[in-house]
Amino acid sequence: MDEIHIHGGHALEGTISISGSKNAALPLLALSVAVPGKTTIENVPNLKDTGHMLDILTTMGAQVDRSEDVVSIDASNVTETKAPYDYVRKMRASVVLLGPLLARYRKAQVSLPGGCAIGVRPIDLHLKAFEAMGVKVEIVGGDVIATLEQSKSGEFMFDRVTVTGTINAMILAASLPHEFSLENCAMEPEVEILARTLVQMGAKIEGIGSPSMSIQGCSSFASVQVRNLPDRIETGTYLAAAMITGGKLALEKTQPEHCKSFLAKMEQMGASIAIQGDQIVLEAPKTLQSVDLRTDPYPGFPTDMQAQLMAVLCLAQGKSVITETIFENRFMHVPELNRMGASISIKGASAYVEGVKELKGAPVMATDLRASACLVLAGLAAKGVTKVLRVYHLDRGYENLTQKFLALGAKIERVG
Ligand code: UD1
Repeated sequence: MDEIHIHGGHALEGTISISGSKNAALPLLALSVAVPGKTTIENVPNLKDTGHMLDILTTMGAQVDRSEDVVSIDASNVTETKAPYDYVRKMRASVVLLGPLLARYRKAQVSLPGGCAIGVRPIDLHLKAFEAMGVKVEIVGGDVIATLEQSKSGEFMFDRVTVTGTINAMILAASLPHEFSLENCAMEPEVEILARTLVQMGAKIEGIGSPSMSIQGCSSFASVQVRNLPDRIETGTYLAAAMITGGKLALEKTQPEHCKSFLAKMEQMGASIAIQGDQIVLEAPKTLQSVDLRTDPYPGFPTDMQAQLMAVLCLAQGKSVITETIFENRFMHVPELNRMGASISIKGASAYVEGVKELKGAPVMATDLRASACLVLAGLAAKGVTKVLRVYHLDRGYENLTQKFLALGAKIERVG
């Protein structure tokens, strides 16, 4: 199995372009199955997860064409309304097929995703929102079988903020012949672009970008061409790489307004940041300052950036407290960072990071995507050689990771 080997201690410098967002692309790709025609999506990153979603769509009968970062999906001939376990178990986000299948066929069968490394991750709220709209939900043989019997107008309030839950509910509501309101919705940019796409397809949505959306559906979704967002988490990861190595980077093709929460934290840590159009230039401080942070739904600090910032804070002056409020088990990178010389202890939902002078290279491995990114960052700053195992996690979410770091002067190689 491939590994990434890093000779740490080199300040990164240079310019790279940020790829399309994984988490925005996945629901946009899934939505194409609800369109009795062609959907074209630009700026789709070439990742394991996006490839996986395209494989599911192809298996269901869609015709998929990809030319560089532009993907066209013609779902005219899709008749299959089932996404099999073999696919779903490989990628939790397959659950975003439920809304599109229900929207077009009034029925859907998708395997219930299991728990994953970072937490239990139930989908009860997705299913409750569907039920509020008139869907009968059964769990048979580990599959969710959902059937829209008599569609209902009304409203549904999410007990807690869920990104893919909001997306699934919004897609079904956008196909109902009446109005339906959703309350306590996620406000992530990935939700907003999906809502704007549904409007382009014919639905009427009030309150886009807010916690309350009122949706008036349309009978059939029109073919559209959309441009996917830049990946805000990839952006944050490279900025964190500049911070941890004491370097200076220019990132192009970003959407800086989506990055405010972590740019603010990096500024508090001492970074100089300049924004011009879609470009972010970050210069690391000579000495990193400690900060406290707490993950929250957007526009709060993203849980998907928690591990990467923790790596940086390992080398900051003083003590930082990091509180994780979204997932119950998202500190799996802590023991690995400690093996590299960090000083972190965990109490409940908080990690207490005592800054150290240096990190030391070691063989490390992580159990999820962002924790793996955190270990790459630690390796870039560490003295000696770091070997990151289980590289397949990184392939799920970072396009051309090794090449991008090489372009910035890192001593990094992928060993097969
Ligand atoms: C999405 C992102 C993921 C990110 C997460 C939080 C995608 C493909 N993935 O995941 O990268 O880390 O948002 O920003 O976009 N919950 C329930 N019941 C539900 C649904 C969620 O209890 O029905 C809980 C979850 O267990 C979690 C919290 O709500 O504790 C937030 O999860 P959610 O926003 O749904 O995460 P995902 O959409 O799966």
